[in-house]
Amino acid sequence: MADERSVYKPALGKGIVPHEARLHHEKIAEGVLQNALKKSRLTFEDIDAIAYSCGPGLPPALITTANFAIQLSEKYEAPLIKVHHGIGHVEISRLLTKAKDPVILFLSGGHNMILAYVEGYYRVFGEALDITCGNLIDVVAREMGLPMPGGPELERLAKNGKYVNLPISIKGMDLSFSGIQTAALNLLKKGVPREDIAYSLQETCFAMLAEVAERAIAHIKKEECLVTGGVAANRRLREMITVMCEERDAKAFFVPLEYSGDNGVMIAWTGILAHKSGWKPDFKDKINPRWRIDEVKITWI
Ligand code: KG4
Ligand code: ZN
Repeated sequence: MADERSVYKPALGKGIVPHEARLHHEKIAEGVLQNALKKSRLTFEDIDAIAYSCGPGLPPALITTANFAIQLSEKYEAPLIKVHHGIGHVEISRLLTKAKDPVILFLSGGHNMILAYVEGYYRVFGEALDITCGNLIDVVAREMGLPMPGGPELERLAKNGKYVNLPISIKGMDLSFSGIQTAALNLLKKGVPREDIAYSLQETCFAMLAEVAERAIAHIKKEECLVTGGVAANRRLREMITVMCEERDAKAFFVPLEYSGDNGVMIAWTGILAHKSGWKPDFKDKINPRWRIDEVKITWI
């Protein structure tokens, strides 16, 4: 086994540039593969299948890895497994935490979803309607002049803050964070201390997330809650989810920090699950940039 990484990092203060991400992936692919084989003491003779992230995501980055995987699969005559990026996050988190059948809070920069496995699919019980909570945190942190990613810095600031009012917005089981963003940026302009905004932002957003998670647990009668994605690192969020679970006699699980962000192992592991259970995609395209998580038939549970 190996866990080799080479992460594309945009220039300081900038977001992801798709074309740069593509060039990065092209440049490092062969080296990362060779390092992984060396570390795990394997050759291609030992490889049963080749998994790659087929979507969702930015097409230039997806197509680079897809082409690389297809080339390997043809060269070594190994079957190709198309993995859904979000399912990758869920499955590596289930493996490492040993959560069996949880309500899942998937909170990365790009995704906010409340998921649970029901009859063959990870169903979406709620999601962010506009921006994600991670997005909101990063935008407000950037305006505060904090380094990216904003989450850890905002969490540090929040320790010394007190509560100021921010608008809660839950629509059914869905969440809207854009009103909080506008309100928080207005408070910042008015000169409200950064600590207070940081504290209130965390309290408000995490209370919203805990509320919909609690309702999902109650409604579909699950006994576990699993939090994954970059935002899962936040201690205050962990505390709120833990308390909510205790009150419901449910068990709280949090993905280990090392595997909360994107990683190749999550794609490989999901590839193994899919391959062993005979999973087949119902489309022919190399990549599926808008692939929805609840379209993936789960054949391994
Ligand atoms: O899953 P992730 O590492 O990357 C992808 O989006 O794929 O998630 C990144 C998000 C960023 O918005 C970052 O600010 C947030 O996770 N984050 C945190 C913390 N650490 C990272 N948010 C709150 N508290 C943290 N300690
Ligand atoms: Zn991700």
